[in-house]
Formats: sequence, structure tokens, C-alpha cells
Amino acid sequence: MTLTTDDPPVSPAVRRSAELEQQLSLDPGRFRVLTGDRPTGALHLGHYFGTLHNRVRLQDLGVEVFVLVADYQVLTDRDVAERLTEHVEGLLLDYLAIGIDPARTTVFNHSAVPALNQLLLPFLSLVSVAELGRNPTVKDEIAHSRQSAVSGLMYTYPVHQAADILFCKGNVVPVGQDQLPHLEVTRTVARRFNERYAEVFPEPDALLSAAPLLLGTDATKMSKSRNNSIALGAGADETARLIKGATTDADRHITYDPARRPGVSSLVLLAALCLGRDPHEVAAEIGNSGAAGLKRTVTEAVNTRMAPIRARRAEYAQDMGYVREVLRTGNERANAVAEATLREVREAMGMFL
Ligand code: TRP
Repeated sequence: MTLTTDDPPVSPAVRRSAELEQQLSLDPGRFRVLTGDRPTGALHLGHYFGTLHNRVRLQDLGVEVFVLVADYQVLTDRDVAERLTEHVEGLLLDYLAIGIDPARTTVFNHSAVPALNQLLLPFLSLVSVAELGRNPTVKDEIAHSRQSAVSGLMYTYPVHQAADILFCKGNVVPVGQDQLPHLEVTRTVARRFNERYAEVFPEPDALLSAAPLLLGTDATKMSKSRNNSIALGAGADETARLIKGATTDADRHITYDPARRPGVSSLVLLAALCLGRDPHEVAAEIGNSGAAGLKRTVTEAVNTRMAPIRARRAEYAQDMGYVREVLRTGNERANAVAEATLREVREAMGMFL
């Protein structure tokens, strides 16, 4: 993908990510990746191009990968985690379908790893209440929350997320831009723990996806809970229907201009990502075919690119016994790692062992 003069200036996090990317391919054995998802709904194309695809690439480079099903984190913006089993199984199917290999990658859910959760207590002591209140991602989530009162977990989950990352001494975290404040919290927790007690934790780096942000079909942020996304497991007809209903504009001439034409440009981008091509070129080819022509191109590109993933997903769905076993095995491994880290932490803190 080419950068144009319209693109925003490169931030330090993006620059750091590019350096990391090089080191990862040169020396994959030095790195341990941790990343995860909340089981609140089906993973969608935004997740795929933003982070899921990257996980598989890292796994295939030979980096050790941990993938977390962040079940406790569901309770940050709602009172009850609804249809949890269904959502957890959906995530597992998505992971397997995109090529996560449980023989190389540890998949676990954090409520099944008690020692990980226990790290939250010492970690909370390292962060001030004022710092918790300043987190921009938390503020945004509070603005979109469906709860009448903001819970303590909303303010503290970024510290819990530090435990998610640090229990396995993850040093690379592939995430989207919205997670950067949380990664800063993790780095702060690691640094302060090391200064106050003993050198136990790495200060992990974010690995940002090179793909620009995809919008939902309503031209706002694509989100599991906003009903504007195309799920990885969606069928070809459902995909066609969702794209047909997507927001565009009245200009028949299709261009890639994210700032001025968010709806049209996000569709162009989706086609370009699926085709592995430059969005400006894809837009130029569609030219004067209007929104209908654009939507035909996008639908075909998505359905072609996703067909093998959807086929594998359907196959795994026939064998849910195996799918659940993947999580049980991952949890066993995550527990062993978490217990070893907790022991180190308690020792560093001078607790009775
Ligand atoms: N906060 C992430 C999300 O909303 C999920 C998550 C939980 C996570 N723990 C993590 C991501 C640790 C990266 C690392 O999608």
C-alpha cells in the first residue's frame, strides 16, 4: 500500500512497530506475543485485517503466541456477560478457521487462570486513581456504555489487561490504535514493578497493523456491538446483503478519499485489502460505475477472499468436542506459566512462600 500526502504523519508508535517488525522476522525466538479479544460477539472483517491476520503471520514466523479469550473483560460495560459460551466457542472457531494452530499457539480464557488474576492486586497498587481516570479509551467506552452506572472494573480493566500481558512475559502485543493507552498502562506497571521490587517483567511493545482502519457498513467505527460489521463466519448471501445496505454517497465517480468520503472509501479499502491491492487503483478501476458497481466489486472480493476461511470454520463447527479441547489444553499451559510468574512476583515482594 502506498502512502500519499493525505496520510497523517507517522506517529512514534507506528515507527516503533516498523522496527519491531524487522526484528521479529530476524529473530522470532526472542519474542513472545500476547493478544486477545472480548467474547462479546462474532469477530468481523475489521478484526481480520486489523489484527487476526497478523497473529497467524507471527505464529508462522516462529514467534511464540498466546491468544486470550478475555471473558472477565466483557463485564466492563455491561452487567452480565450474555451468551458467553456461544461467544467463546465462536471465537475459537474463528481462530481455528483463520489458521491459528493450537500445537504452536496457546489459546486460553482468563477466568480459567487464577494466578493471572491474582497479579491484578499488586499491579493495582502501582497505579494511581488519577491515572486510571485519564485513560482515553476508557473514557470513550464510558461514553458508549449501556450501563446506568460506571463500574470499578471499567476503570481497572486496563490494569487487569497488564496482567494478561505480563503473566506470560509477553513483549509484543499486536493491537489496534484504540489499545495504545492500555499498552502504556502495561508498560508503566512493568516498569514500576521492576523498580520497586526486582526485574521481573519486560516492557512490551505494541505492534500496530499496517492496514488502515475499516469502518462499519454505517460509515462509523466497525464494532461487534454496533450492528455494522460483517462477521468472519457470515455467509456469501449475508455478506452481499450487508454490503448492499452500506452507506455511500451521491457522487457516481468512485475515489479513495477517506477524509471526505468515509463510506465509499471504506468499501474501496475493504475490496483492496481482500484483493491485496492499492485502494487508489481499485477505486480508479471502478471509476464511474457508481455505488452499485463499487458494491459488486466489494462483495465479490470479500466472498472470494473469505471462502476458504468460512469453509474451514464450518468444518470445525462439526467437531465442537475438539474445539473445546483446544481451550482446555491452552488453559493448562497458561496456568503453568501464570503460576511460575506469580511465584516470582510473590518472592520479589517478600511474601511468605
Ligand atoms: N481490550 C481488548 C479488546 O477490547 C481485549 C484484550 C484483553 C486484550 N486483554 C488483552 C488485547 C491483552 C491485547 C492484550 O479487544
